[in-house]
Amino acid sequence: MAIDGIRKAFGPTVALDRVSFSIAQGGVHALLGENGAGKSTLVKVMSGLIRPDEGTISLAGSAVALGTPRTAHAMGIQTAFQEMTLVSDLTVLDNMLLPYAPMGPTGLIRRREARRSVERHIAALGFGVDLDARVGSLELSVRQKIEIARAIYRKPRILLLDEPTSTLAGRDVDWLGEIIAAQKAAGTTVVFITHRMREVRAFCDTLTILRNGRHIVTAPVSGISDAEVIEKIIGRSLEQTFPARPETAQSFGPPVLGVRELRTGRKVNGVSFDLRKGEILGIAGLQGMGQQDLFLACFGMSEIAQGAIMVDGRKVWIGSPADALRPNIAIGFVPEDRKSEGLFLKLSGKQNASIPVVSRFSRLGLIDAAAESEAVGDAFATVEVDGRAMWTRAGAFSGGNQQKIAIAKWLVAQSRVLLLFDPTRGIDVGTKHELYMMMRAYVAAGGSILFHSTEIPELVHLSDRVLVLYDGRIAAELEGDAISEPAIMRPALGQGAAREEAAA
Ligand SMILES: Nc1ncnc2c1ncn2[C@@H]1O[C@H](COP(=O)(O)OP(=O)(O)OP(=O)(O)O)[C@@H](O)[C@H]1O
Ligand SMILES: [Mg+2]
Repeated sequence: MAIDGIRKAFGPTVALDRVSFSIAQGGVHALLGENGAGKSTLVKVMSGLIRPDEGTISLAGSAVALGTPRTAHAMGIQTAFQEMTLVSDLTVLDNMLLPYAPMGPTGLIRRREARRSVERHIAALGFGVDLDARVGSLELSVRQKIEIARAIYRKPRILLLDEPTSTLAGRDVDWLGEIIAAQKAAGTTVVFITHRMREVRAFCDTLTILRNGRHIVTAPVSGISDAEVIEKIIGRSLEQTFPARPETAQSFGPPVLGVRELRTGRKVNGVSFDLRKGEILGIAGLQGMGQQDLFLACFGMSEIAQGAIMVDGRKVWIGSPADALRPNIAIGFVPEDRKSEGLFLKLSGKQNASIPVVSRFSRLGLIDAAAESEAVGDAFATVEVDGRAMWTRAGAFSGGNQQKIAIAKWLVAQSRVLLLFDPTRGIDVGTKHELYMMMRAYVAAGGSILFHSTEIPELVHLSDRVLVLYDGRIAAELEGDAISEPAIMRPALGQGAAREEAAA
């Protein structure tokens, strides 16, 4: 596939600025770049979803008109989109068949055949899912796998994967690696977008870097170092990724958030800890070990079966997010799926940021726009979000900027505790670095952070203390220099009595 002089602007924003490069047939090609670099826009152009203002796409040497997704499908191009295009209210099966579900008089018979073929397909891909389950009821990672499975179901010659691993972790990433390898072996050309160098090295043959909508380089993966890649992505070199952790001997303030013998209906099975003022407390655990329920429970979104939550040493009742927002509690939550849970995509960045506390800016039923703008402006400056965020709808921003808006929202609300659940998912290296600095600044100013990440190095370098969950319980507690990848992984896999280790 050759991309030649592709330009695409959204109003004043030039998302793609005459991008040209070619993608070798049958290889795996990484597409890299910061949040907002233009990767998804290019994928949408290649998928026939967006028409470029200028430029052409050629297949096997001749220019093609990819007017609509259907024309792209007919040419063997299939895409797993970053925003995931599954319909929440439909079943897995219906989604798998979209938009080509059998209809008409023979529809029922063909539907039965289709069901069997989808069943075989999903089984061959090595994951189990109930075909009659409503997609909206499934975990994000499962939805992502279905989005990928659907693209492959149609036997693509060119498979476009837009950040599939930002919703996958651990074993699921390995799962995808095997699928990519199998697609490659079958002669499919794969374009793979990710923010993780590790995956580029493991899965890809060539890479292309975009910056500010421009093509920077296309090169074999083996011929370029990680440092060079990062420099080309962000346009400058990055000395260290993580801010230094303060001396471990530092004293934290009193407990701000306490969890006592917490049990939830689903996964948490007797968890107790204190989060102290000024502390970043990491919660480690492989997927499904209870971390999600724990975070949700602290924000009033998961039912507490037993146990208690304490704020400032007093037992509190957090039955809903509105309770978490009360000034005496003041807990903010940045969820995993910011697109569906964290932000209203049709509202402006400013409206999103002031929603939780909009009553604070209203007088006699009218919003005091000046006070609102000032508070939001301060928070936006702290997180260094794109300047247009004030007025532009959140949906028009790239992933990284959306995440910054989601965090700014809780700064506006003056949260004393931030629950950050995998906050750097889908965020580029430069922005990650800014978020790390922001987390440190937030606790240095007296805030407290409960932090889960699927990236173990983030937990190692950012947490003052780490609790490792296994099967809904705390399997290990690590502090300061005792925090390391192996020290986290062993108990996370259910091995070893690491609690003694931490005590020693
Ligand atoms: N529908 C749209 N309306 C307005 N601007 C848009 C729209 N889609 C994308 N943009 C803008 O185009 C630029 C490129 O966005 P794009 O989504 O392609 O980035 P990306 O490289 O995929 O980023 P990320 O890593 O965050 O997914 C950004 O500045 C974005 O705000
Ligand atoms: Mg994108």
